[in-house]
Amino acid sequence: MKRDLIDITDLSVEEIDELIAKAEDIIEHPEEYREKCKYKKLATLFYEPSTRTRLSFESAMYELGGQVLGFSEAQSSSAAKGESVADTARTVSCFADIIAMRHPKEGAPLVASMKATVPVINAGDGGHHHPTQTLTDLLTIKREKGRLDNLVIGCCGDLKFGRTVHSLIGAMSRYENVRFVLISPEELRVPESVRSDLLEKQKINFVETTSLEEAMPQLDILYMTRVQRERFFNEDDYVRLKDSYILTPDKLRTAKWDLSILHPLPRVNEISTAIDDDPRACYFRQVLCGKFIRMALMLKLLEVE
Ligand code: NCD
Repeated sequence: MKRDLIDITDLSVEEIDELIAKAEDIIEHPEEYREKCKYKKLATLFYEPSTRTRLSFESAMYELGGQVLGFSEAQSSSAAKGESVADTARTVSCFADIIAMRHPKEGAPLVASMKATVPVINAGDGGHHHPTQTLTDLLTIKREKGRLDNLVIGCCGDLKFGRTVHSLIGAMSRYENVRFVLISPEELRVPESVRSDLLEKQKINFVETTSLEEAMPQLDILYMTRVQRERFFNEDDYVRLKDSYILTPDKLRTAKWDLSILHPLPRVNEISTAIDDDPRACYFRQVLCGKFIRMALMLKLLEVE
């Protein structure tokens, strides 16, 4: 049976730990992986803008010796003629061995996975989930902190529409003694589904606050996010909320010396560029982790030894 990755909880904690170990082995011995996917093809079907996710998938497949095909905007595919995601997925299964799909509609990659005959990876569906960003985040945290348990994680910004945060909470809430500090404006708090299904049901320790300053001293990880302009219903709300949190060197004065600052990127203005060279800023190292963990994931789903 083929395996897809639609939601991060499609993977067990053991499988995630294995993927992290595999990615670390790839980092150590890249030469051993250069031909692992020779003659394999990845299709990237991106119906929404992307820089890191699409290019990291593509460079991951090239570094495994495979090839890549696909489209980077809906307008250049038959979606513009009215083709359904299900038909596109079934069609692309004739050309590729694995599919990575990003779509503005929640659930589209799931629908694709039901019709595709090859594994489908959700590369972000609307305001829902983004499991491969979470694998990237977990590898980054593991490398920066040496552990995935016993952590206080602050998630700051647009926790309502930010799909990376939803998937990160889903993953991290399965590790021991992880506490979340959810920092957002009232209007951008985590959706009820995340609060009830992931946090409350699993009895995860979490608090919600509007103050980044108050939260800062206790955090081991600060996960900053962009206000998701494209998911707002009106521009006025976006304009009112877009500058809610701007991380500056001054605000880091009360932070732990070994805080790790993550951001899925792209950044708009929520992290001052003056922080980029602070050793605690991990977000560009995080980008690189994204390539290695996607290499590990594709090896797993393609069942390459
Ligand atoms: C994120 C996304 O697309 O959800 N970006 C990414 O994949 N690295 C975050 C964002 O767009 O804000």
